[in-house]
Amino acid sequence: MKKPKVFVTRAIPNRGLDLVLEFCDADVWPGELPPSREELLERVRGVDGLVTLLTDRIDSEVMDAAGPQLKVISNQAVGFDNIDVPAATQRGLPVGNTPDVLTDATADFAFALMMTAGRRIAEGERYVRAGKWKTWSPSLLLGVDFKGATLGLVGFGRIGKAMARRASGFDMRVIYYDPLETRPPAEIKATHVDLDTLFEESDFISLHTPLTADTRHLINAAHLALMKPTAVLVNTSRGPVVDLDALYEALKAKRIFAAALDVTEPEPLPMDHPLLTLDNALIVPHIASASKTTRDKMAWMAAQNLIAGLKGEHLPNCVNPQVYK
Ligand code: DGY
Repeated sequence: MKKPKVFVTRAIPNRGLDLVLEFCDADVWPGELPPSREELLERVRGVDGLVTLLTDRIDSEVMDAAGPQLKVISNQAVGFDNIDVPAATQRGLPVGNTPDVLTDATADFAFALMMTAGRRIAEGERYVRAGKWKTWSPSLLLGVDFKGATLGLVGFGRIGKAMARRASGFDMRVIYYDPLETRPPAEIKATHVDLDTLFEESDFISLHTPLTADTRHLINAAHLALMKPTAVLVNTSRGPVVDLDALYEALKAKRIFAAALDVTEPEPLPMDHPLLTLDNALIVPHIASASKTTRDKMAWMAAQNLIAGLKGEHLPNCVNPQVYK
């Protein structure tokens, strides 16, 4: 029997890739970098399915270039702002994502960023390597405290809630803003507040919201101005949620204490970006979900979504279930 043709835009972990290769006639992009737009448009021609990553912009042009036989788009990520979902829905195309399996890895990492920035760990490491460590000093690299501090979560979905659970172990007070979830589940101690209160009262703010028209540049000069001068901002959601120009100004003027970013706009951040000159900006390359087991599970879920779509079955994780109505 002829296997369905698919394009996989990068080598995903074997746990998913092996499944894809077993079931499909797969063209796997061999590059370390994503295919260029031209290469993407070329390689999708005539495929039945696509496995994509957050670095691939999948819009009407790509869907049309693939052709009317395209049955499924499976994104190996929980976020799917790289895909024009309305365009896929219009074509009856299910879009898959990989939620849940990365919740703990991402929350662990966001918490680690919060502590690293709050306690100036990366700065301390740079200090040692630069040969500046001469003696113990009473006021060397002083940071901020966690016990009793207020953690403000923007977005209270799976990852936001996982952050709240971690914060309770550090005796922190948790407040959050999420227009879709104004009552916390009984087992989580957290209080819903409006956005301005969250900015004003938080000692740490961690972003866990999808990128939408409403959340693009949600963290702007006006919101940064409401934050405490001792506050730390953490972003593991999507880069464009934060206006980086405004953040640079706030960090440079020490209007906030520090920021830790796993995601930036653009990605990668150009080496001449002014944020990279600041000691109170900690920037890492979009690795919050990057644990071996988590990425294996994400790849496996992406393969499951792909195969279900190719078989004409409902995707186990579909972001546009309206296609089945
Ligand atoms: C996602 O899945 O959306 C993360 O940003 C990458 O793991």
